[in-house]
Amino acid sequence: MCGIIGYAGPKNIESILLVGLERLSYRGYDSSGIAIISDGELSYWKKTGKIRELEKMLRNLSIKGSIGIGHTRWATHGEPNEMNAHPHLGPNKKVAIVHNGIIENFSVLKEELIKNGHIFRSDTDTEIVAHLIESYMDLGLVQAVESATTHLKGSYAIAAIAEAEPDKIVVCRHGSPLIIGLGKGENLVSSDINAILPHTKQIVLLEDDELAVITPSKVTYKIINGKAITKKSQHIRWDALTQEKSGYETFMLKEIFEQPNVIRQLISKMVVADKQIKLKHIKLGQKDLASITRIIIQACGTSWHAGLYTKYLMENYARILTEVDISSEFRYRQMLTHGNDVVLALSQSGETADTLACLREAKSKYFKVLALVNVKGSSIDRESDGVMYSYAGQEVGVASTKNYVAQLVAMYLFSLHMGRIKKLISPQELAEKISEIKRIPDHIEHILAQTDKIKAIAKKYANSQEFLFIGRGVNYPSALEGALKLKEISYIHATGYPAGELKHGPIALIDSKLPVVCIAPKTHTYEKMLSNIQEVRSRKGRTIIVASESDTELPKYADDLITIPDVSEDLTPILVAVPLQILAYEIATQLGCDVDQPRNLAKSVTVE
Ligand code: AGP
Repeated sequence: MCGIIGYAGPKNIESILLVGLERLSYRGYDSSGIAIISDGELSYWKKTGKIRELEKMLRNLSIKGSIGIGHTRWATHGEPNEMNAHPHLGPNKKVAIVHNGIIENFSVLKEELIKNGHIFRSDTDTEIVAHLIESYMDLGLVQAVESATTHLKGSYAIAAIAEAEPDKIVVCRHGSPLIIGLGKGENLVSSDINAILPHTKQIVLLEDDELAVITPSKVTYKIINGKAITKKSQHIRWDALTQEKSGYETFMLKEIFEQPNVIRQLISKMVVADKQIKLKHIKLGQKDLASITRIIIQACGTSWHAGLYTKYLMENYARILTEVDISSEFRYRQMLTHGNDVVLALSQSGETADTLACLREAKSKYFKVLALVNVKGSSIDRESDGVMYSYAGQEVGVASTKNYVAQLVAMYLFSLHMGRIKKLISPQELAEKISEIKRIPDHIEHILAQTDKIKAIAKKYANSQEFLFIGRGVNYPSALEGALKLKEISYIHATGYPAGELKHGPIALIDSKLPVVCIAPKTHTYEKMLSNIQEVRSRKGRTIIVASESDTELPKYADDLITIPDVSEDLTPILVAVPLQILAYEIATQLGCDVDQPRNLAKSVTVE
């Protein structure tokens, strides 16, 4: 997934493109570049590394121009280096394009073009498209882009500029997002609304197989290789999300510490008068919801872990059969429907390609699709039949923290609501559970006060080569999430396992060098966890135990102990997530890793 920005207008184009790229860097940040047409001449600059490297390169150049495009990359084809950075140009360097997506037939196209004498500088699929467009430029830029797309299979969002037509940007999309911003005497295009909002709140969503011609004074639309169309604009009510660290060293740390207020805000949005749960944007009536016989949750990464947690709750409180699938798997399996099934997509960004593709596939099979997203106006938000929001605010850190905890709380409340409307939970029980979850933010604050203690533990284990995380029941997903948090920001190999599985193989890993994070708060499987911890210790494994504060037994078996306040079993994963986030954060910081933008990752994975 990459980020695209384009500007047509009289303002300082270099700064508009660079600031836009900064806002898009969550989509990929291994290299970036811009191309501008100035006095009829096409110029371009590109640089490996974060956007700031490109900024340094441009610092002393006084770049003028009214038409330009920019790109920040997450490498799909070709390693992250200058040659593979976008923009890519045609053989005569008269056309420049930026692209988000994957051209699945690029090898065949590349071979054909090489046979016709084309020479390529990069290993990317995008460069093929630039060559194709330039080869059709005798038709004019619009038709050249349209003709090029007839060769392409896969997903693309393309922005193209040409020296021969210095007054326009031609953009088109198939499978990757593009949003147009309509300003006064200026217009923009971007992969993400957030890069546009500082300039204008009047936007147009380009749909698949649509093309737009953007000049400073107007934007026209057509179907790719089809007729002209008119598009309705919409006025966005919310402001561009600010990306301020507010005094914290990193966005991730800020977002970890925002969690208490995020949960307070979420509860205030989902709970009415401390005794009722409201789902404002779920368009299904209570009768429809109560008649659901199966929920299939599909998600990726951390959101998938939240889905695994939801299964326990939904089956426990609402007695609804709940399956949980990784989106990239569910999508390519037989989606069998029987009875009244609903597919539930969980996604922070609302743009994850695998999850979005699954949602579309399920809708084509006549499933009702619900979603829980954090980003309003995202594709999954717009395309689901009913949506819940996690209200976590913008999550800039690539490693999801506050949104994960918000997902758990939202799914807890959703499961209670489903249980209530099926009359499996009494109003009294619901009120009691609401009152308990309203104390969660205070408990999180209590845990956050232990940061220094967790930091000391992190220091002790920061040079370990690998970690094992184990948990049971609702804390099996906690083990998976703890392992993912650690590996994605510290690059240390870590695995999460259901503790009961240890004896079926992973126990072979246990030795005096292996730290095992044992997630063992007071739950109905506590005794079993105690036995697993004994198994680890009898093989000299080093135990970092996460226990309930009132526990006096487990500390005897802990090399290091982290405690969480005593809460009902189903709420323990919400609390457990926080010390494991801090542990991962402190280890990664010890190792000098970039916790906000870890290598190889991006915040929103908009390619499959
Ligand atoms: C989370 O820490 C990871 N960065 C990643 O696994 C993420 O959860 C996954 O890509 C799904 O993203 P989504 O929630 O935006 O769909």
